[in-house]
Amino acid sequence: MARADALAGFSEEAGRLTRRYGTAALVEAGEAVAAWMRAAGLSVRRDAIGNVIGRSKGSDPGAPALMLGSHLDTVPDAGRYDGALGVLAGIAVAERLRAGGVAVPFALEVVAFVDEEGARFGTAFLGSSVLAGSFDPAALGRLDGDGVSLEKAVEGFGGEPGALGDARRAPGSLLGYAELHIEQGPVLEAHGVPIGVVTGIAGQTRAALRFTGAPGHAGTVPMELRRDALVAAAELVVEVEAVARDTPGLVATVGDVTVLPGAPNVIAGQADLTLDVRHPEDRDREWAVTRLRERAGEIASARGVECEWEPLHDQPAVRCDPGLTGRMWQAVEDVGLEPHALVSGAGHDAATMAAIAPVAMLFVRCAGGVSHHPDESVDEADVAIGVHALTRFVELVAERRSSHSEGGS
Ligand code: HGY
Ligand code: MN
Ligand code: MN
Repeated sequence: MARADALAGFSEEAGRLTRRYGTAALVEAGEAVAAWMRAAGLSVRRDAIGNVIGRSKGSDPGAPALMLGSHLDTVPDAGRYDGALGVLAGIAVAERLRAGGVAVPFALEVVAFVDEEGARFGTAFLGSSVLAGSFDPAALGRLDGDGVSLEKAVEGFGGEPGALGDARRAPGSLLGYAELHIEQGPVLEAHGVPIGVVTGIAGQTRAALRFTGAPGHAGTVPMELRRDALVAAAELVVEVEAVARDTPGLVATVGDVTVLPGAPNVIAGQADLTLDVRHPEDRDREWAVTRLRERAGEIASARGVECEWEPLHDQPAVRCDPGLTGRMWQAVEDVGLEPHALVSGAGHDAATMAAIAPVAMLFVRCAGGVSHHPDESVDEADVAIGVHALTRFVELVAERRSSHSEGGS
């Protein structure tokens, strides 16, 4: 908890927590985490995109590893537990195993991913996609709000844009990836349980849309002759909500709108907005995205404006690995709790890592289900039982591996 408070001090802004990719705040947070990893007996390195990776010392370099972790970056004006808690829990597990003299028949790794949120370049899951080998180098040309490219930011961060392909983990080098994360929703609190076992992660599609019309004088251009980009955007925003309300299980969000030139007496010539669509079933999400893309085009042509649609990412829904999830379930029972299963509406690096390793997730209850908000909070006792369960999970993976290697079942 104290470390989470300390990490919250590394921010781009005074008075609120914003820590995006390629910023000094993220470098400093990474150095603090690296120091805690070393203190936990891990050898630490940064990969080409800047992920901080600790690995149990003395482990045979070729040995497959069980990786724990989460992300270190935040959304703007964030809470202090989203991502950070999972990184700190991984370090706590390494400390506990060492303190308990527990030797595991594999290397233990703890990762702090550098860009899960995609708040600066729209590159969600950047850090884990590099590790998983699913990073698209075309994204290096993406620009942030100040026109800085991702490529420049990687260089500025001490990374190597040209070596991102080599940073991929060799298939088979990971036994599994397990992520502890705050639930970011109200379910565990509603059931009165401190932790929950995640069975799946909803798929999500993000896109950047630009409506381009004709800026003009607010006083002289008659309503019927206007090509107002903002009104077109506004009509689509309402449509997004309507489609989501009419589609069971779907959530859709327009979270960021920018209007140009942006003056009270000037008709909007350009309106940029982001779209985030999610559903546990890929078919339903894809249908909604297609529908909204159609509607955006229809609204644009009806209003005489242009509409551009730039896909940012498509993260399919992911089922957590039954075997590893079974270990997580057992671990929760072994720490004396009745396990509770739930699906994640939020995206996580675990969804990206599922491409190269079996994944499991453990959620920790958060007050009021509040997240992506400075009021995000967790109970210390819940965190303690979460770390305890995650430690037990690693022991169970070790026991299963040892029994297998001794030819047991
Ligand atoms: O957007 C998400 O779902 C996560 O918080 N990155
Ligand atoms: Mn988040
Ligand atoms: Mn997160």
